Amino acid sequence: MRHTCRRTADSGAAMSSSQTLYPVPEGIAAAATIGKDDYARLYAESLRDPDAFWGKVAERLHWARKPTQVRDVSFDLEDFRIRWYADGELNASVNCLDRHLEARGDKTALIWEADDPAVEPQHVSYRELHARVCRLANALRNLGVKKGDRVTLYLPMIVEATVAMLACARIGAIHSVVFGGFSPNSIADRVADCGSKLIITADEGVRGGKKIPLKANVDAALKLPGTNSVETVLVVRHTGGAVEMQMPRDRWYDAVVDDQPATCEPERMNAEDPLFILYTSGSTGKPKGVLHTTGGYLVFASYTHACAFDLREDDIFWCTADVGWVTGHSYIVYGPLANGATALMFEGVPNYPDNSRFWQVVDRHQVTLFYTAPTAIRALMREGDAPVKKTDRSSLRILGTVGEPINPEAWRWYFDVVGDGRCPVVDTWWQTETGGHMITPLPGATDLKPGSATLPFFGVRPAIVGTDGKVLEGEAEGNLVILDSWPGQMRTVYGDHQRFIDTYFKTYPGTYFTGDGCRRDADGYYWITGRVDDVINVSGHRIGTAEVESALVSHPKVAEAAVVGFPHDVKGQGIYAYVTLVAGEQGGEDLRKELVAHVRSEIGPIASPDHLQWAPGLPKTRSGKIMRRILRKIAEDAPDQLGDTSTLADPSVVESLVKDRRVP
Ligand code: WT7
Repeated sequence: MRHTCRRTADSGAAMSSSQTLYPVPEGIAAAATIGKDDYARLYAESLRDPDAFWGKVAERLHWARKPTQVRDVSFDLEDFRIRWYADGELNASVNCLDRHLEARGDKTALIWEADDPAVEPQHVSYRELHARVCRLANALRNLGVKKGDRVTLYLPMIVEATVAMLACARIGAIHSVVFGGFSPNSIADRVADCGSKLIITADEGVRGGKKIPLKANVDAALKLPGTNSVETVLVVRHTGGAVEMQMPRDRWYDAVVDDQPATCEPERMNAEDPLFILYTSGSTGKPKGVLHTTGGYLVFASYTHACAFDLREDDIFWCTADVGWVTGHSYIVYGPLANGATALMFEGVPNYPDNSRFWQVVDRHQVTLFYTAPTAIRALMREGDAPVKKTDRSSLRILGTVGEPINPEAWRWYFDVVGDGRCPVVDTWWQTETGGHMITPLPGATDLKPGSATLPFFGVRPAIVGTDGKVLEGEAEGNLVILDSWPGQMRTVYGDHQRFIDTYFKTYPGTYFTGDGCRRDADGYYWITGRVDDVINVSGHRIGTAEVESALVSHPKVAEAAVVGFPHDVKGQGIYAYVTLVAGEQGGEDLRKELVAHVRSEIGPIASPDHLQWAPGLPKTRSGKIMRRILRKIAEDAPDQLGDTSTLADPSVVESLVKDRRVP
């Protein structure tokens, strides 16, 4: 059936979303590596015999020592372990570089597109990238960085970010990339938690024409307690902006790196040796250091990348994420480069200099596979079709989304307007913790439904559990768990294995709990409904309510704070803060601005509350627990759905919060 007929059927709002189907376009199906029959067969095989399946998939990597063991897993708390390919040895940078040199040495590994379109793009071949990685790896060794040491990267979206990740991997150092939008406080927390020895940063970043003082932020971070482990700061000259250099700690990157030899003996790593730490927010406490290991992660990142985008040798792959998030790790760096693909790195933002920028970049570099976030799609959709339609985009073959549920309206706009109705949209559900795609369409195999991440990837066993923990069969709605391990699964929370177990394996014993709600329809399609814990998903970025609350209460005028998410047209969710001031303080517009600025400086701009309401009191149970359910309803502007408030210690606080609620 043709798309046009189906779309007509969908236009009736009464039509259940589960009946809207966008079949695999014929041209895509005919050329795809994995077709419909293949998916069903391979999926069944992957569950029937995971050892055979993942043993075979692992052959896509170059191993210094081939693994003879594949899966060694138990989610049983008495006997807990997650190990994949445990006797295998490999090096991730060798897999991303050296092994391509013979056949693809002159192939472009990275295309770099600057924030300013007038700046000439860069094309970095596999051979050149290999040399640059080796030089930095040698420099790091000379600076005393050894296998197992932690290195923090606080960089803009420049080629050196990829070089730095791979250089760490080459010498067995564990990189911890901190997103360039985070504040000095957040850098310091992350440096202190993993005890980094060295930081690589740049003078400044540029996004949307605005400078970001990266080096100055690092300087401020290193004045904070707990950061004494840092011996060296390498500074990439990027904008040429003036920065203070504190000798002997600070060194210019080019001065240390440029004279190094262009080859470097890679460290032989065990498959279960750590590759990187990436901090992510949870429902309680400070961000946790998600730890990924070498073998399983690389198998999973590269295989999911090849399958979900039906990768071909001449593809130009563009993932718009920042390398500060897991999407950048798996689908700018490790997945594409392990696959010998050409990946585009973009320094800028979707709407600078204007709203056509994404599509101009697509045309300029003839991008074939494009991967972005629903929040970007919604923001561009608001600007209308014209900025899209004045570009060509005929190079595009597959579109992808990630980061949050995509509303069907935005999905259809992406499909119809951006993809001109030709390109399948792969809505990929996964998490920092999963290392790669878990529930995703495969473009040649999966009929699509706008808003659904569709079906599980090979080897992934999703299940939906009710509040009583029972696994629900057939059509169902509840919490999403994964019943068995997959190679890209995180192995621990850095420095706190107990927190790993407590967070993910205790809620529904014997399973990995995702923190997401989910519905499965009659066709077995999965529809992620969003976080069910105290995590807010703002523009595809995870923010813990507890983090924002602790930033607010660290202000001397704040006595107490409660933070919840609310539906936001562009960001998916916005941040709504209820603040109780210390006695004698008066809440006004100035203080509101001051508190928002305080949160920005404590965590970073992504955590800025959209709304901040003065709360004379917070709705608490008699045992003192804040009833967030009520606060969420008020923030959603649904005061008629507060439910039972009779268990509150003082039900009258609710009335006053409802009366003063901040609605757009
Ligand atoms: C959370 C993970 C995965 C890389 C980017 C975010 C939400 C992610 C989808 C999707 C619905 C999604 C979930 C998940 N999420 N992708 N396609 N559909 N929700 O990584 O920061 O670890 O966040 O993002 O809520 O738990 P992350």
